[in-house]
Amino acid sequence: MVVAKIAPSLLSSDFARLADECERMLSLGADYLHMDVMDGHFVPNLTLGAPIIKCLRPHTKGFLDCHLMVSNPEQWVADFASAGADLFCFHYEATEDAAALIDAIHKSGMKAGMAIKPKTPVDVVFEFCDRLDQVLVMTVEPGFGGQSFMPDCMDKVRELRKRFPELDIQVDGGLDPENIEVAAKAGANVIVAGSSIFKASSPGDVISLFRKVVNE
Ligand code: DX5
Ligand code: ZN
Repeated sequence: MVVAKIAPSLLSSDFARLADECERMLSLGADYLHMDVMDGHFVPNLTLGAPIIKCLRPHTKGFLDCHLMVSNPEQWVADFASAGADLFCFHYEATEDAAALIDAIHKSGMKAGMAIKPKTPVDVVFEFCDRLDQVLVMTVEPGFGGQSFMPDCMDKVRELRKRFPELDIQVDGGLDPENIEVAAKAGANVIVAGSSIFKASSPGDVISLFRKVVNE
């Protein structure tokens, strides 16, 4: 039985107060801290890289779930490992040798995740699932927070859950209290949410609700 892990996306936080924002989310019950890494090439936006993770690391014991929306992810494994990242999630679309990359991530001491964009079919990940710590099914086109959840992506989550009952299946993009039930019923257990948590008047209630619905 997989359990809920709630991962607020710090993309929606106040970057000038990143360490405080991380601690605030952990104190409200977050399991993971979702760090969105964008290179302006794989996606049309720029955010942060290993230097920021390295600065953050001494300020939080939280699990740093790093989502790399970058071309050539192989290039950054060593930097993220030495910066103190806990999980390195790369995009299937960004690499030519996913198996070698998964090995490199594990050898460096991090957990390995693989993400697929909304238009990428789910079957591409099947052969890697026994070696992955997490699969991320994107529910928006990667690049920006605040977009609408794409319910069509739930077929992919259902298919994955059917085949891999113990796998951590993460969903990311547009998750909110209205659609969490659809995602949870499909089989997602690791829930990323930026806007719906950070813009809520009571972010802790949103985190608790997500957990309750997933664990039901
Ligand atoms: C989008 C990022 C997401 C984003 C989610 O490319 O991967 O993690 O921050 O934000 P919301 O929950 O606002 O869609
Ligand atoms: Zn993300």
